[in-house]
Amino acid sequence: MSTVSPQANNDSTRKKITPLTFRQKKEQGEPITMLTAYDYPIAMALDRAGIDSILVGDSLGMVVLGYENTLPVTMEDMLHHCRAVARGAKHPLLIGDMPFMSYQVSVEQAVLNAGRFLQEGGMDAVKLEGGHARISAIQAIVEAGIPVIGHLGLTPQSVHQLGGFHPQARSAQTAKKLLEDALQLEGAGCFSLVLESIPAHLAEFVSRRLSIATIGIGAGAGCDGQVLVTHDLLGLFDRFTPKFVKKYADLHTEIQRALNAYIAEVQAKSFPAQEHTVEMADDEWEAFVQQADQK
Ligand code: KIV
Repeated sequence: MSTVSPQANNDSTRKKITPLTFRQKKEQGEPITMLTAYDYPIAMALDRAGIDSILVGDSLGMVVLGYENTLPVTMEDMLHHCRAVARGAKHPLLIGDMPFMSYQVSVEQAVLNAGRFLQEGGMDAVKLEGGHARISAIQAIVEAGIPVIGHLGLTPQSVHQLGGFHPQARSAQTAKKLLEDALQLEGAGCFSLVLESIPAHLAEFVSRRLSIATIGIGAGAGCDGQVLVTHDLLGLFDRFTPKFVKKYADLHTEIQRALNAYIAEVQAKSFPAQEHTVEMADDEWEAFVQQADQK
């Protein structure tokens, strides 16, 4: 049973985005917008801004939980954050990112864990990383009625195999392999495909070859949509910023400024001021003092 409570954002004029909307947008040449969220307030803000899709990415391991990479993130971590996002966002297509080791061990485990994202996390779809090695898991998840989005190129869960967070598919041979994987993922039933950190020409070529929508991150403007990690875009995460990120705000600096001001005002006793203070009527206060003094 879903543990997600009634939705916060009740704009009845907007339609819920579905995998079908992705297909229609691709056909009409209308770019698909996607961003990550890991909590209720950001999910609400994204919904209000009119985003098409929210990815509860396992990037939460790095930008929220402080890990070096995404590998330590568990199913329980993901479901906890998915539930918060589902409570905050009503209209966007909600995608839960399957964490490392939740879909690689067996097809049965992959289906069960994908199902948990919908049943317990309030998600509409799941994303998982990898190409031909994931085909049987993807087919089984899709057969269970769960929409799947694939992820090729820089796949962060393979960071050790890739030797770091580097751009991928930059040789003719690896580009060909990526195209083959993309076609296989489409054949296996993925409704969309994230292309991360690959040459823009290649991403555009793959996007034209596929009938499903591609969502680029560090893959140029030729994809059918774009995704970024919201903490990067807002300048909330200053430990490391990939080249492909555009910072639309510098909230890290703004937060630091606010925190410094708070500390300084508490130390100077200028906060709380009169307007932040609760008072009681004089006669009540006097009666209280009298009673307190009697005791
Ligand atoms: O985990 C994540 O946020 C992602 C996006 C970067 C696509 O996989």
